[in-house]
Amino acid sequence: MDSILVTGNGPLNGQIPIAGAKNACLTLMPATLLSEEPLTLTNAPRLSDIKTMTALLRSLGAEVSSLQDGQVIAMSSHSLTSQTADYDIVRKMRASNLVLGPLLARFGQAVVSLPGGCAIGARPMDLHVEGLEALGAEIELKDGYLHAKAPGGLKGAVHEMRFASVGATENIVMAATLAKGTTVLKNAAREPEIVDLVECLRKMGAQISGEGSSTIEIQGVDRLHGATHQVVTDRIELGTYMLAPAICGGEVELLGGRMALVESFAAKLDAAGVSVTETQNGLKVARKNGRVQAVDVVTEPFPGFPTDLQAQMMALMCTAEGTSVLEERIFENRFMHAPELVRMGANIEVHGGTATVTGVETLKGAPVMATDLRASVSLILAGLAAEGETTVSRVYHLDRGYEHVVRKLEGVGAKIERIKGE
Ligand code: UD1
Repeated sequence: MDSILVTGNGPLNGQIPIAGAKNACLTLMPATLLSEEPLTLTNAPRLSDIKTMTALLRSLGAEVSSLQDGQVIAMSSHSLTSQTADYDIVRKMRASNLVLGPLLARFGQAVVSLPGGCAIGARPMDLHVEGLEALGAEIELKDGYLHAKAPGGLKGAVHEMRFASVGATENIVMAATLAKGTTVLKNAAREPEIVDLVECLRKMGAQISGEGSSTIEIQGVDRLHGATHQVVTDRIELGTYMLAPAICGGEVELLGGRMALVESFAAKLDAAGVSVTETQNGLKVARKNGRVQAVDVVTEPFPGFPTDLQAQMMALMCTAEGTSVLEERIFENRFMHAPELVRMGANIEVHGGTATVTGVETLKGAPVMATDLRASVSLILAGLAAEGETTVSRVYHLDRGYEHVVRKLEGVGAKIERIKGE
């Protein structure tokens, strides 16, 4: 198995290009199932999660081609052959459940495996099921699979979600595009990836309003047509690399970055003593003066501080002056990076959903293990700031969500290499 060797090497300077958003692409790809006509995505990220979604769509009979070195994904769901998303693929990636809404809407039936346990918590699908049932679907759990059908077709309804789940919002919105009548989804998630999905669905002929607010209204149409859509910038990759100069010093410009994608995160950086300014091509990040200051963080649905940047922010807080409290409110069990950071000399105490981090002056390089996608990159950030060498193993987690991480960080002066394993 490959590992990544990072050697602390001082300030970072230069530019890092930010890719298209993994989480947007993973909901835009299943949108192809809604139409017989082709859907083409540009600015797609080159990631193993995208390959997993490609395999899933192909298993349903969709044609999926990767063009221009993977940056363009051309899809056609003209002649689908199956409405079953198999456990073998779904277990690899929870986002596989995003085929449920589109398959049900187009074919009146779908069988989708439950994703099963996941390293960062139980992550059930009850909110997806409740929303689709409100649209008239009948859903049963049998042998680990959700069997969904809507014999007379889906019908628009008013539905309020108990929690603003990102995936459930995406599934319900996609399903409602082909339902009869109007759907009003209340307490919908407001993430930029949902706005991106709605913009693409609108290009396909869907009638939707209110995206980005907590009430989304969808007027069902008979059919959707083909479209070409550019995937929005990855705000989590953006936030991750914004932390590189924050933790190492120097000044880095994140190409393609936009403040609107990371407002609450940038406000926390500002409070910690890191300046974030908009440039013509993106965002520029630098420490204002010496050591960063401790700040408290609570993770929340968008526009709050993203859970997907909590691990990386913790790496920064490990070297801050003072004590910070990080509260994780979206997922249980999302502090698995904490014991690994402690191996590097960090001072962290975890109690339930709260981590208390007292900054140390320097972290020390150590062999550490990636436990999930965002944890893996937090260890790389910590390694960049540490004295000596850090080896991060189990980097397949990293390949799920960060393209060319070595090349991008080398480009700003980091000492980082991928070591090939057996
Ligand atoms: C998406 C993102 C993920 C991010 C998360 C929260 C994708 C592919 N993934 O995941 O990177 O961390 O949003 O911003 O876009 N829940 C239920 N019942 C449900 C659905 C969810 O209880 O039916 C719970 C989950 O267990 C979790 C919380 O709600 O504790 C948030 O989940 P959700 O917003 O659905 O996240 P995902 O769409 O899975």
